[in-house]
Amino acid sequence: MQEKILILDFGSQTTQLIGRRIRDLGTYCEIVPYNKLPNSFEGIKGVILSGSPYSVYDPHAFRVDLSAIRGHLPLLGICYGAQSLVNQFGGKVEPADSREYGRAALCIDKKDDLLLKGLKDKSVVWMSHGDTITSLPEEFELIASTSDVPNAAFKIRGEQTWGVQFHPEAHHSEEGKVLIGNFIDICGVRNNWSAQSFIEQTVQELKDQLGQDKVILALSGGVDSSVCAVLLNRAIGDRLTCIFVDHGLLRKGEAQKVLADYEHLGLNVIGVDASKKFYKALKGVTDPEQKRKIIGKGFIEVFDEEARKLEGIKWLGQGTIYPDVIESVNITGMVIKSHHNVGGLPEKMNLKLVEPLRALFKDEVRRVGLELGMMPHLIHRHPFPGPGLGIRILGEITPEKVRILQEADDIYMSMMRAEGLYDQVWQAGAILLPIRSVGVMGDERTYDYTIALRAVSSVDAMSADWCRLPYEFLAKVSNEIINKVRGVNRCVYDISSKPPSTIEWE
Ligand code: XMP
Repeated sequence: MQEKILILDFGSQTTQLIGRRIRDLGTYCEIVPYNKLPNSFEGIKGVILSGSPYSVYDPHAFRVDLSAIRGHLPLLGICYGAQSLVNQFGGKVEPADSREYGRAALCIDKKDDLLLKGLKDKSVVWMSHGDTITSLPEEFELIASTSDVPNAAFKIRGEQTWGVQFHPEAHHSEEGKVLIGNFIDICGVRNNWSAQSFIEQTVQELKDQLGQDKVILALSGGVDSSVCAVLLNRAIGDRLTCIFVDHGLLRKGEAQKVLADYEHLGLNVIGVDASKKFYKALKGVTDPEQKRKIIGKGFIEVFDEEARKLEGIKWLGQGTIYPDVIESVNITGMVIKSHHNVGGLPEKMNLKLVEPLRALFKDEVRRVGLELGMMPHLIHRHPFPGPGLGIRILGEITPEKVRILQEADDIYMSMMRAEGLYDQVWQAGAILLPIRSVGVMGDERTYDYTIALRAVSSVDAMSADWCRLPYEFLAKVSNEIINKVRGVNRCVYDISSKPPSTIEWE
């Protein structure tokens, strides 16, 4: 049984960040909605109550019965979590005179408190709250304060329960990690998670779960599906069959490169070149959503057709990762499940799902991949959309336009690697615009396409900033593309950020 810290989510935007910090400290944790407490606390070594957009005195505020936790397990309330402890035990929480938002210096009132161990006096902490704790219940002991927030941290006497008004999970709390580390130590679970331990445990679990069963998995060339495949392969060897569908909209030479990598990794892969089928289905289609639907549907058809040729398959492997499955609570109290049905693979296939990466964040997937001995270029590749170049060729897709874009994109990406810029950007690629403009080459007038170059920095693709690539680099790329790619006579650089623009143009 994997020991863990449980985080109860009351709908704060920083709940995931609490999880990240704990994982960064090598400790396993899980986030669950406040109203989905597990029936059994086996394996749970401590509990954290998150912040919330609500006030504790609001009639609609999210409440939870803590009787099974308080006094039995170490408990830490953060912001709303701390206020709800105060409120439940007869203390006072009231609207602050003004919203307390920003940095504050923490005065430690109880130097030997275990939660605050190692924090220096006047440590900078991050405040973000509209309510404040105006009086602590009798059995609560004040352990830290700031100039504006007298009750900034407390402990309940005689039990391992703490509350902090500030946000130790926020980057701006300079010693937040120390505080969270102290809580981990109190729970006694430090360093119970590493890529190596994850692999050992998961491989064993997969062996137990799958026995002699056969599994099928769709490989995309991306990090998640690749790591998932290698992990499954470790557990069940050739009883895993992978299918790699080339829809003809991949980067130049990508299908061959990826297949060679997979073979090198010892995976049992069936590569299917279905480009003709996709080009035919996409002929004359210009609407982006229509293109996505056609590509998604075509992918399922090809995968299904290949799967039917195999016998005795019981399971479908998927590279679903943690951010896709965390159920987050929104202001209405509803639990929103971001449903991640990769590629929309058909339910009628009647297969059971196996998702060994369900508990991992993206960077943990990368760590696991490297620990599994996978090639760094496979692990650190930029995100690439499922519909591929299909949504980077604006308007109608033709084989000729695919050729033009593949050439231009290949020049851009190769030069990016050569200049050491590839690993500095989150995602980059070329886009083929559906307009032609006049140019001059030698003595001849040209009337050719325009290529747009895009490079963005991001953390999670929810927002993104355009990268300030060096002018000299952009000049070289533009020159190279216009000189080498037949059909292109102009290059532009996209200087839009998300929002309001999206990363992809379609
Ligand atoms: P946008 O364009 O919405 O993209 O800013 C955010 C991230 O999602 C990727 N993306 C897709 N991935 N199928 C995918 O698998 C799609 O239809 C799709 N559309 C966008 C995009 O490349 C970026 O990483």
